[in-house]
Amino acid sequence: MSNLIETAEDGGILRVALNRPDKKNALLPGMYAALAETFERFNTDDSLRVLMLEARGDAFCAGNDMSSFVTPDDNDLDNFPTWRVLAAAIRSDKPLVAAVNGPAVGIGATLLLHFDYVIASENATFHMPFVNLGAVPEGGASLLLPQAIGWRGAAEFLLAGDKMPARRAWQLGLINHMVEKERLETETLAAARRIADKPPQAVRQAKRLMKGDVEPVLSHMREEFIQFGERIKSAEMREAVTAFLQKRKPDFSKL
Ligand code: COA
Repeated sequence: MSNLIETAEDGGILRVALNRPDKKNALLPGMYAALAETFERFNTDDSLRVLMLEARGDAFCAGNDMSSFVTPDDNDLDNFPTWRVLAAAIRSDKPLVAAVNGPAVGIGATLLLHFDYVIASENATFHMPFVNLGAVPEGGASLLLPQAIGWRGAAEFLLAGDKMPARRAWQLGLINHMVEKERLETETLAAARRIADKPPQAVRQAKRLMKGDVEPVLSHMREEFIQFGERIKSAEMREAVTAFLQKRKPDFSKL
């Protein structure tokens, strides 16, 4: 599983790459576990200044693997790998930088809400199709997205389930820059390097001030996880997921 998440250290920058290109970097349980360990290590290792997330192939991340939705134990969320990844990103007081090279779907998009500096290639898209799947938003999106881009922008994502091209995401302020895909890695690495070379304690203190108390976000995300877990068992979500796996349109007409 570890080769599905690649890590490399580059002068204080922890580069993390999603490496399941044949499945558009859809995340399997073991990939969450490897990512959780990586984010948690980043948070506690003072020699690492910036985490840079990127992806192999032509997609950033197709979200959760459709064949492996798991209902978490509400009483043991802290040990649930998906929760651990998001919680570590939320709790991080060090800069998180991402290079988005194609579709960012589901948790592939909501995780980015906790990043500080996001650069996307012109062909990138952002999609949080939870309602299309009979699910509810996760990753704190139902709290943070309306705060970040306003109610109506968030409704396009979370109620209409629209897919947003990079330009629209940029206009909404969801990403910092949009670049030609050939320049994505260089530009993102340059941004990560610029931040990594700054006085590390000042950067961390600044990020803590910007974020304030993260407990309300974690508590909201806990509620999202509980409701998402219930939706997994719903007839609506079963139909949506089965339809995806059978490569057909879902039929909600009888539900
Ligand atoms: N889980 C499992 N497999 C996935 C996947 C997912 N989330 N997303 C894509 N794949 C698989 C496809 O089934 C296909 O597998 P196959 O080659 O064995 O048939 C392969 O990855 C390529 O996907 P495909 O849809 O043909 O590529 P595309 O370039 O046309 O579209 C996406 C890419 C990401 C836009 C599209 O695959 C997609 O929308 N995926 C669903 C993502 C989603 O709804 N995730 C939300 C989870 S909450």
